[in-house]
Amino acid sequence: MAMTSLPQRPSAQQVMQDAAVIPVIVLQDTAHAVPLARALVAGGIRMLEITLRTPVALACIEAIAKEVPDAVVGAGTVRSAADAQAAAMAGARFVVSPGYTRSVGKACHELGVALLPGVATGSEIMMAQEDGYTALKFFPAVPAGGAAMLKAWHGPFNDVRFCPTGGITASNAAEFLALPNVTCVGGSWLTPADAMTAGDWKRITRLASEASALPRN
Ligand code: 3PG
Repeated sequence: MAMTSLPQRPSAQQVMQDAAVIPVIVLQDTAHAVPLARALVAGGIRMLEITLRTPVALACIEAIAKEVPDAVVGAGTVRSAADAQAAAMAGARFVVSPGYTRSVGKACHELGVALLPGVATGSEIMMAQEDGYTALKFFPAVPAGGAAMLKAWHGPFNDVRFCPTGGITASNAAEFLALPNVTCVGGSWLTPADAMTAGDWKRITRLASEASALPRN
């Protein structure tokens, strides 16, 4: 499939539309960042969420931003305005947060970086919408109600599009991707820690190719 060109400053909608899956990545070693990003891009996955959960996360974002022009690197697990600022300084072009606060929303707006805010309740959706966010991460998707919750939200919030994340796997992704209010899903299954430790980039490309081929509504 021909890939569209990458926007320098993608909107949250563009981040969600690019592929069926946004990989949620936990990197323990800076040396893994560039080969991992290349392996995912080779499998058709260009929007990469590097979680700010390890001491090397910002260095990994910086390395991918500099060395893998075919990827769009983003930061995950952003929980404060300071996290968003640090991620943008390192080269992140989008931000994913596990929840939503006005200060994170304001920081991303001022930084000009797309934000996928995390929501798990109607009130959180309404607060994010009030601040202009309509492309949202549903987190943690499976524990918080799964596909049934998304179906229920489609009534009152039918102008919102979701990226369910948390408990999504190769086995249940298709069920989510078939829903009319789901644009993509997020998940860690494309980047198993043991594959990264072993440098098994081919396995990661294979997982990414399978994920890219998942049908979407
Ligand atoms: C996370 O925050 O770790 C993501 O939601 C990924 O969850 P998963 O490991 O269930 O895919």
